[in-house]
Amino acid sequence: MNPFKGKDIISCKDFSRDDLLYLFEKAKLIEHMLNVKGKVDLLRGKVLATLFFEPSTRTRLSFETAMRRLNGDVIGFTSEEATSVAKGESFEDTIRTVSQYADVIVVRHKRPGSAKIAAEVSDVPVINAGDGSNEHPTQAFLDIYTILKEKGSIDGLNIALVGDLKHARTMHSLAYALSNFKVKLYLVSPEVLRMPKEITDYLKEKGIEFHEVDELSSVISDIDVLYTVRVQKERFPSIEEYEKVKGSYIVTPKLLDKAKSDLIILHPLPRTIELPTEIDKLPYAKYFNQVKNGVYVRAALLALIFDAL
Ligand code: NCD
Repeated sequence: MNPFKGKDIISCKDFSRDDLLYLFEKAKLIEHMLNVKGKVDLLRGKVLATLFFEPSTRTRLSFETAMRRLNGDVIGFTSEEATSVAKGESFEDTIRTVSQYADVIVVRHKRPGSAKIAAEVSDVPVINAGDGSNEHPTQAFLDIYTILKEKGSIDGLNIALVGDLKHARTMHSLAYALSNFKVKLYLVSPEVLRMPKEITDYLKEKGIEFHEVDELSSVISDIDVLYTVRVQKERFPSIEEYEKVKGSYIVTPKLLDKAKSDLIILHPLPRTIELPTEIDKLPYAKYFNQVKNGVYVRAALLALIFDAL
């Protein structure tokens, strides 16, 4: 049974361990097919709409790449100013309209809960590509697919989520999704950027061992995966508040001295100062593999939504 058929993809809380493993199995298959053939004729005649009310490079282009490599078509926009929202049209009417053109909609918007609202008014499935500081489920799917590929399994791993745990939607979705596995989490952040209580409560409910810590150096030798993110400047109430914490964590080669030899470092990108380019040449750096995996996972997800795989 395909659990993704005709489904909206709004929150990682909606997907079980089996759902995720099913997706990863199909992503592996698609990865193989695309590496052999470049294109696979699974979604001919289907149209994907990418509605980006907030900036994006990877999420939009990897969805677009995924759809084109499955022989589907893509329409969309990359800013609110280019749409009738600038004339006063509502978000809901924009979605209602696009759902008359497209067979699936990918939406990113600054308002938490916007993807859920879109799904309620859309006639076609909606995929959340980031709703403000709330969630970014497909990023978590590709993050875990990358961990699985690099490590062989998720169970038994010690994973550090480092940085702006308060505002980063990638962190929220990843924490929810990882709660389906037997992992130990280190939530590393300054006090003011802690993981929202709603999410730590959820982790407790799911019986996940987690530790909230201030210093990355105190856990570096115990972790298998270091996942970090930029401090989310645009979510801060003032620039002063941002300036106080923007340099909280910087992954330096010196910090990695005590790391396990098979540690992997992941980052959803874009990076700012938290991940210097000098790390790129180290064997730990897997974030551009992660970027590539985004195409396979999103292609599998699209194919599954249309039950074409
Ligand atoms: C992230 C996002 O938009 O939440 N980027 C992405 O989709 N890869 C992370 C970020 O913007 O910091």
